Amino acid sequence: MSGVIAIGSDHAGPELKSAVIFYLSAKGLQTMDLGVPIGTAACNYPDIARKVVSAVLSGEAGRGILICGTGAGMCMVANKAAGIRAANCPNEYTARMARAHNDINILTLGARVLGHGLALEIVECFLETPFEGGRHQERLALFN
Ligand code: RB5
Repeated sequence: MSGVIAIGSDHAGPELKSAVIFYLSAKGLQTMDLGVPIGTAACNYPDIARKVVSAVLSGEAGRGILICGTGAGMCMVANKAAGIRAANCPNEYTARMARAHNDINILTLGARVLGHGLALEIVECFLETPFEGGRHQERLALFN
């Protein structure tokens, strides 16, 4: 799996996106910024979601992070793609469980919901929590 993290946000979250990129870079991780830049007046979150989904599905990125106002719209779009398991995580517990039990490959965050400090803790859980496999792998096999 590629160690690169693909990251994108709509106009609600470029500041949080920059904070996450700074955090990941400080940890020595490579990021792929798929937009949008700070100052973007408005854009459509499905367009950004699809760019990150493509990077993960192609293997260019091992995992993805998507940011919009609530995290909800990005999560809905990402989960339309076969092979993507995305969860909108408003706290560390959800992020840990979504990795351990659901093996998520895309994390979505709500920039209008979360402070940057909490968002970065959530990102840390997303990166560091291993999938438990076993009975959870059997359940993932029932998805399609
Ligand atoms: C944009 O205003 C907002 O609708 C979007 O960022 C997101 O929250 C959608 O789910």
